[in-house]
Amino acid sequence: MANQEDLLKKVVAHAKEYGFVFPSSEIYDGLGAVYDYGQYGSELKNNIKSFWWKAMVQMHENIVGIDASIFMHPTTWKASGHVDAFNDPLVDNKDSKKRYRADVLVEDHIAKLEGKLNKEVEKARKRFGDSFDEAQFRDTNGRVLQYQQKINDINDRLKAAMDNGQLADLKQLIEDLEIVCPISGSKNWTDVRQFNLMFSTELGSVADGANTIYLRPETAQGIFVNFLNVQKTGRMKIPFGIAQIGKAFRNEIIARQFIFRMREFEQMEMQFFVKPGDEMEWYEYWKEKRMNWHNALGLGEDNYRFYDHLNLAHYANAACDIQFNFPMGFKELEGIHSRTDFDLKAHEKYSGKKLQFFDPQENQSYVPYVVETSIGLDRTFLAVMSAAYQQETLEDGSERVVLKIPAALAPVKVAVLPLVKKDGLPEKAREILDDLKFDYNCQYDEKDAIGRRYRRQDAIGTPYCVTIDHESLQDNTVTLRDRDSTKQERLHIQDLKKRIETLVSVNTLLTKL
Ligand code: GAP
Repeated sequence: MANQEDLLKKVVAHAKEYGFVFPSSEIYDGLGAVYDYGQYGSELKNNIKSFWWKAMVQMHENIVGIDASIFMHPTTWKASGHVDAFNDPLVDNKDSKKRYRADVLVEDHIAKLEGKLNKEVEKARKRFGDSFDEAQFRDTNGRVLQYQQKINDINDRLKAAMDNGQLADLKQLIEDLEIVCPISGSKNWTDVRQFNLMFSTELGSVADGANTIYLRPETAQGIFVNFLNVQKTGRMKIPFGIAQIGKAFRNEIIARQFIFRMREFEQMEMQFFVKPGDEMEWYEYWKEKRMNWHNALGLGEDNYRFYDHLNLAHYANAACDIQFNFPMGFKELEGIHSRTDFDLKAHEKYSGKKLQFFDPQENQSYVPYVVETSIGLDRTFLAVMSAAYQQETLEDGSERVVLKIPAALAPVKVAVLPLVKKDGLPEKAREILDDLKFDYNCQYDEKDAIGRRYRRQDAIGTPYCVTIDHESLQDNTVTLRDRDSTKQERLHIQDLKKRIETLVSVNTLLTKL
């Protein structure tokens, strides 16, 4: 656990030092849970978006993409339920005057118990050595079972209180568990209150009779309100999907865990409209498709798992998360939800407009059901960065920090490096760069010894370095160095482009789907 927390700290520091992610408005000491993507971060983000867009839109004849506005008519959020129900339960400590999410206080308490449980397991592992059977130990050890029982009980009470909106029960749970404020150390809590997560602002000047509008808390509603526009203009037939990538805003109270939970973030969502009754089949289809997308990245299949929602929202008839093994543990990366006809029906009701599909085969109109896939772009970024970050000792004994980012997502694909800064090598290198730059984001670097230049490229995750030496001037060959293996191959300059294409193209990922 300590190592994992350490990893998050290292990733945060590395992301800042190497131009991936900066705290927002840092010269003014930053803004909580808001971050800026730097020169390499924005490239990585764009590449993730491109892989998602191509996988969802380009690879599916029946999925199209849109780009809806962040501002929407305020009634949208009444219809979607966000005005009335998009709340977090908050509790204040009367002594420190600090505000907390009540459910997170309880979750932190559970995490502590899990920590103690895991300690027991680790102690036993040391004691028993190679013969240790972890599963059996977890099933039979008295102390571990006690911890597990406690965790389950608390989880059940937390779920029941959250699902039924029983704020008094939540407060009782905090009191029963004797949770103290991390700052004041006291148990002097206020009652738990609901707090809406949507940011609001004013449209038009106040004198004109301003209208309160919201910054969208999810991109999905931009798709629902455009369902008919897209279906008619695109002559789409059920089943079909609408995809979108865009910003969403939530006034998250807990500002921590880097870009995992932000107040301004990006979602990549797809709403798939199906015939009522077919939704479970499509739900299973999209679970598999989306897991394949994650696995294609090669971050390790063991780092992903499905987590089924046990207590479903009132409008869903199935829902699960794809969780990723972040440095903080397994946490939600993507949601897959079978949302029935809840959203379209609600918009029909509030707008007075029909949002239906005429099915020529059935010779009738119906409100389609929806299966949604919703993935956080920033969380995907964090997943890639934390799996990619590695400290290694090379064969020659030297140390390096390398980002083993999937080549197709790497911010810089190729670095072009003349071995020395003279004898015509820089000119030759520039010739190669001028050819490659039409297809790839490349970097030219002639400063410092070649080893230091390789280290700089390793640190930003550049998968390939092309080195030009004196031999290159004689026979038009160069070396191509692989970031992960550090192995070099010699090849002819005229074969370079083709070779790189096979290594870094996003098609290498798309063909795995
Ligand atoms: N339309 C469904 C929807 O918005 P969600 O589970 O609330 O569902 C979907 O959000 C995804 O958006 C999450 O799985 C997560 O990856 C990402 N996400 C949600 N809140 C976030 C936040 N505050 N910061 C970063 N990503 C967030």
